[in-house]
Amino acid sequence: MENEVLSVLIIDQDAASRNYLSVMLRKAGYAVLTAASAREGLISVWKDLPSLAIFDPALSDMPATEMVRRLRQDRRTENLPLVVLSSQENVDEMSALLSAGCNEYLVKSSQAVTKLLELIPRLLHQQRDVKKGGMLIVFLSAKGGTGTSSLCANVAMCLGKNKPETSVAVVDMVLPIGSIAHIVGYRERLNLISVAMQNPDQITARYFKENLPKINEWYFRLLAGSPDPDVANQLAGDRLKPVVAALQEAFDFVFVDLGRSLSRLSLPVILHADVLALVLSTEVASVTLTQTVWSYLQAQGVDPRRVYAILNRAVGLEGLTKAEAEQMLNLPIQYAMPYMGGNFSLANNRHEPVAVKFPLDAAALTLNQMADQIADLAQRLRHGG
Ligand SMILES: Nc1ncnc2c1ncn2[C@@H]1O[C@H](COP(=O)(O)OP(=O)(O)O)[C@@H](O)[C@H]1O
Ligand SMILES: [Mg+2]
Repeated sequence: MENEVLSVLIIDQDAASRNYLSVMLRKAGYAVLTAASAREGLISVWKDLPSLAIFDPALSDMPATEMVRRLRQDRRTENLPLVVLSSQENVDEMSALLSAGCNEYLVKSSQAVTKLLELIPRLLHQQRDVKKGGMLIVFLSAKGGTGTSSLCANVAMCLGKNKPETSVAVVDMVLPIGSIAHIVGYRERLNLISVAMQNPDQITARYFKENLPKINEWYFRLLAGSPDPDVANQLAGDRLKPVVAALQEAFDFVFVDLGRSLSRLSLPVILHADVLALVLSTEVASVTLTQTVWSYLQAQGVDPRRVYAILNRAVGLEGLTKAEAEQMLNLPIQYAMPYMGGNFSLANNRHEPVAVKFPLDAAALTLNQMADQIADLAQRLRHGG
């Protein structure tokens, strides 16, 4: 990674300035992309994924603050280093752009290029640190009883088993009562609420590495869910994000079971996910509700490429086909999980992973493949593909 050529996008509607800056940056060893308008800039930034963007806020097709807002709302560019290079010093413009999320504000002058060349490596370095955390895989459904918790635990297990060099943690965030502890047979007291109620200074990566229980046959560590509704009601809204952030710092993969708890509490976690596993069943009601949830999430800026939709035949063989469900959702379905009859419940009741209890069942193969695909997708999106 160190010696790969870093690319810088210049957005400036003045051709002379654009060309001058391109020449200087190329001389300094950067690959340079250029755009002559805000719209061209947005297209290039999401298509070419440069390492950094520099722009002159004098753009006639869109207010510069609006362009910045769009960049910051999109997961691909939420942390992209953004440098303003304005043709004149303007305090109001500077404060508007910095508060919209730009990293630096410079004025075009004879020293501007020198300043830029000092600034760029520093910004790129900070940028690399931001992306260090483990992958966040969020399991979500629009309706209860779809198999979300069962799939979350079993897919996480397959990943932990197939990639022994990676650390996997599962967090049960279903409110008001979690169920993963029951699926894996965990009976101790440590849980999401007891952790989230602690002093925030104590919720660190180190704390989780030292205290999260290993669930042996399952190949992951578990942060169990809320044991009862009374306890869940004590949870303050701002407590989930630091828990997730510390877990991502501690482990390579963090699986979150959100069940159908789409809410103000869980939305920040969803928006932060590397992959959103959307579980639906073949019932019309499940697909219709999923459609509503998906339009809502799309309006919140969730990138469809991050969605890994799973059609789980939890209710038997009847119901919609994969093609029908895809058409209703307007979203590709990556995998259909076969119906296992009573065997899935049997494995759950014995606290055994499906891949251990029924290793030759088609369902075991499906779970393994979903684990591989989800891990691949997360990694591909991190590397900008
Ligand atoms: N593919 C499947 N085949 C058979 N039973 C399934 C399947 N997926 C889930 N189940 C069963 O459906 C029930 C609900 O699963 P659960 O994971 O608790 O759903 P959710 O978390 O969405 O409420 C469980 O008894 C589980 O064993
Ligand atoms: Mg559940």
